[in-house]
Amino acid sequence: MADMGIPFHVGIIMDGNGRWAKARGLFRLEGHRAGMARMLALIEHAFDAGIGELSLFALSTENLSRPKEETEGLFSLFRLYFTQHIPPLVGRGVRLHVVGNRSLLPADLVSLIEGAEERTKAGDKGLLTFAIAYGGRQDIVSACNRAVKEGREQTLESFAGKLSTGGMSAIDLLIRTGGEKRLSNFMLFEAAYAEIYFSEKMFPDFSDSDLDEALLDYRKRDRRFGTSVE
Ligand code: FPP
Repeated sequence: MADMGIPFHVGIIMDGNGRWAKARGLFRLEGHRAGMARMLALIEHAFDAGIGELSLFALSTENLSRPKEETEGLFSLFRLYFTQHIPPLVGRGVRLHVVGNRSLLPADLVSLIEGAEERTKAGDKGLLTFAIAYGGRQDIVSACNRAVKEGREQTLESFAGKLSTGGMSAIDLLIRTGGEKRLSNFMLFEAAYAEIYFSEKMFPDFSDSDLDEALLDYRKRDRRFGTSVE
């Protein structure tokens, strides 16, 4: 069995904030707050562990149809993140990138995102991607439309370059917390050969050592990319 070391690109579907809050008799937004606190520490831990690219699913296109109170609360958390939590990324040389449909987000949040991307653009030691108002299928359709406009047959590589994740590597390890076993429209093209790891822990409880355990599990996998069993 191949020992593959640390996965280069890790994706995390951060699920379970709502249930974490409900189990404690708290408002859902408290769960998202706890999720953000956990996420901040997990980002540090992931890059310390040697991960090169980390992609976090923060809000799907479909999540936008949740009650306004919840989406507004999430937007406020995002505002807080993009105003207050960028210096550690700059310090580490991590570049920040946000994928998703920005036209679905409040204009002031989009400006904060652009500002954060600008502040981190020189980062060459890691890449942190947030998927916000993001849908994998929608992203594939947008890439198809770009290809149609170009009027040329595409290769896998040229098509991948037209996705909002163009330039990133394929996902090696995809983690989903919260006990559900589905992809929920996250980076479908990019995760085609990802090793998938499901954790029963709700995201606010997903500790640094839970991430280490997922990384350890990845090391035991035998990635063949559809080739022979030998
Ligand atoms: C899914 O849990 C989680 C979300 C929709 C939001 C995730 C957001 C954060 C962790 C904060 C991130 C902050 C930034 C800056 C990106 P859920 O609400 O679907 O939980 P449930 O399945 O238990 O209801």
